[in-house]
Amino acid sequence: MQRAALTATGVYTAPYVISNEELVAAYNEYARNFNADNAARIVAGELAACPESSVDFIEKASGITRRYVMDKAGVLDPQRMRPRFAARRNEELSLQAEMAVAAGREALAAAGRTGAEVDAVICAASNMQRAYPAMAVEIQQALAVERGYAFDMNVACSSATFALDIAVNAVRCGTARTVLVVNPEICSAHLAWKDRDCHFIFGDVCTAIVVERLDAARSAHAWEVLGSKLATSFSNNIRNNAGFLSRCEDRDPDDRDQLFVQEGRRVFKEVCPMAAEHMTQHLASLGFTPLQVRRFWLHQANLAMNQLIGRRLLGREATVDEAPVILDEFANTASAGSIIAFHRHNTDLASGDLGLLCSFGAGYSIGSLALRKC
Ligand code: COA
Repeated sequence: MQRAALTATGVYTAPYVISNEELVAAYNEYARNFNADNAARIVAGELAACPESSVDFIEKASGITRRYVMDKAGVLDPQRMRPRFAARRNEELSLQAEMAVAAGREALAAAGRTGAEVDAVICAASNMQRAYPAMAVEIQQALAVERGYAFDMNVACSSATFALDIAVNAVRCGTARTVLVVNPEICSAHLAWKDRDCHFIFGDVCTAIVVERLDAARSAHAWEVLGSKLATSFSNNIRNNAGFLSRCEDRDPDDRDQLFVQEGRRVFKEVCPMAAEHMTQHLASLGFTPLQVRRFWLHQANLAMNQLIGRRLLGREATVDEAPVILDEFANTASAGSIIAFHRHNTDLASGDLGLLCSFGAGYSIGSLALRKC
């Protein structure tokens, strides 16, 4: 068995920023228009009025202050409330592939590798813009990855960690020497921007990670993968029913269940203990305790969630140095969140330091990787 390492990362940041103030102003205008247009039915008790949102609530409930998006005008247009993307011809690079190629190039350059040295590309994200051919194969071609294989996979918010587990095992077993994992998350396209309970949650981004044989690593900041642990447990509390059967079910694309839906409180209550227990058990299986971990790169959905998990792991508050936060700036970027935290906050640590990367989300799904700085 070979030893495997995460040797470099890249992040493509979406081009537009939406502050909470801008978001709430657009949403509230939509809500007022809705209430005016439906005044008679609301007064008659046939329809619930659309309540207004608030910046204070969003910041207190989530810790999110802004998000990056691939399109801003469509989202903030009270008549539209969803991004607007131009359809691309088959000859053009598709949107998710474009994000992934940018993040992938950055990661490969940081690893000191070219596409020609990559054996496999895994495109892992919560949503794919088409069914086939796989986005990953298009990305493979665009990055001039001349050999090997590429495929897409989706484990919602745990897509990146589950893909890393596959990449690490491929490197360990010798199926591949170098694997590129990319996570193009366009969460703005599955978000119900008209729903006050969740309209602030998501942002767009793409992350990329290079997984290689440790003995071949060229990067100055390689992290040996000591172990990975995946877990799933079925729950309806985070769900999106949109799929290829929707048109056969004669669904209205505006049906609420054709976008992201969650029971936020339940998710919070159920996932925090599961995630803390998962990480503790994972570390114990490798002979460590949470207190020996120098840094946790946690899934970035909600600040209070991460603080609670930190307390469960350490028996006290985790500092931002121990569990860095990026969700204030990026919001929830599904599977990419913990990777952005890793990308931004790993080069300052010393050789021998222990780190734990962990995602948690729909499924439920939890994936963790224990890492040691080389
Ligand atoms: N502005 C103002 N008030 C709002 C609001 C908004 N945007 N959204 C909800 N409210 C109101 C609710 O209507 C509710 O009012 P009520 O008490 O009169 O019923 C109150 O604020 C509390 O709402 P609730 O949904 O219970 O808030 P919360 O404290 O649970 O926070 C989340 C909401 C979504 C931030 C939080 O539940 C969460 O982050 N959960 C986990 C999310 C997660 O990890 N999901 C994974 C996604 S992949």
